[in-house]
Amino acid sequence: MDQEGLDLPDRYAVIGNPVAHSRSPWIHARFAVQTREPIAYAALLSPLDGFAATIESFRAAGGRGVNVTLPFKEEAFAIANTLSERARAARAVNTLTFSDSGIQGDNTDGCGLARDLKLNLDFPVAGRRILLLGAGGAARGVLLPLLEEVPAAITVANRSIEKARQLSRLLPRARSAEVFACGYGDLAGRAFDLVINATSAGLSGASLRLPPRLFSTGSLAYDMVYGRETEFLRLARDDGATRTSDGLGMLVEQAAESFYLWRGVRPVTAAVLSELRGA
Ligand code: ATR
Repeated sequence: MDQEGLDLPDRYAVIGNPVAHSRSPWIHARFAVQTREPIAYAALLSPLDGFAATIESFRAAGGRGVNVTLPFKEEAFAIANTLSERARAARAVNTLTFSDSGIQGDNTDGCGLARDLKLNLDFPVAGRRILLLGAGGAARGVLLPLLEEVPAAITVANRSIEKARQLSRLLPRARSAEVFACGYGDLAGRAFDLVINATSAGLSGASLRLPPRLFSTGSLAYDMVYGRETEFLRLARDDGATRTSDGLGMLVEQAAESFYLWRGVRPVTAAVLSELRGA
């Protein structure tokens, strides 16, 4: 309650640079209406060299939590006082929660991907052979949550093999033995049920040099990028992938998981996702 007796909504925001394109304010506004949670959610542009100061002033003004997007996920990891296990494995944070005891850091990206696969695409990871392409921030964010869904095996392939190996070393020790790290050339002759593109190759217009016949019958090709048909998805279809998906469902699911962390209420995502697809 504020001084004039009016109930003000709890304030949240997405912080990035750039941030104007972000769909998060729209998604969280839908969640708030659906769940009747009294929140306000804004887009906050942070100077590239002023992330910590932007967080501090938002928090000082009463902010309760933020989503963090590019290029600040590593900085968010660094300023958090406590970290979830999945944030530690990702070495990146996309959700900060402010409380009297400090700043809690979490990463909901991988959980968002796993939930999109299971709930929206009816393609649960359990028992499946997964190929994760890339070993940068996007791949780091999803590896542990994918392993927790108990796939048959996960292969991480990257242009730089050493970076793929480092990725598996960030996992809790018992988990790292479950990941096979390799280069793209080592994939020849192997087939997978689910191939996830977590590289930034498509963003620069480059295409991945993948060997042919990577996709098993019934397989799904998933690109974490959303909003357009990517080169990876085109190649996957030509190479025999049965189904393809962009990452829009992951975007909505990671937002729902953040909303759940902040409010303790889980929004229903299906209607929000189909509205977003129609828009
Ligand atoms: P970030 O951490 O911000 O996601 P990054 O660490 O540069 O960015 O990771 C980008 C990922 O896309 C990496 O896996 C990168 O492969 P390398 O580690 O070998 O550089 C991958 N990537 C980018 N452009 C690529 C290309 N043209 N072909 C293959 N992989 C590419």
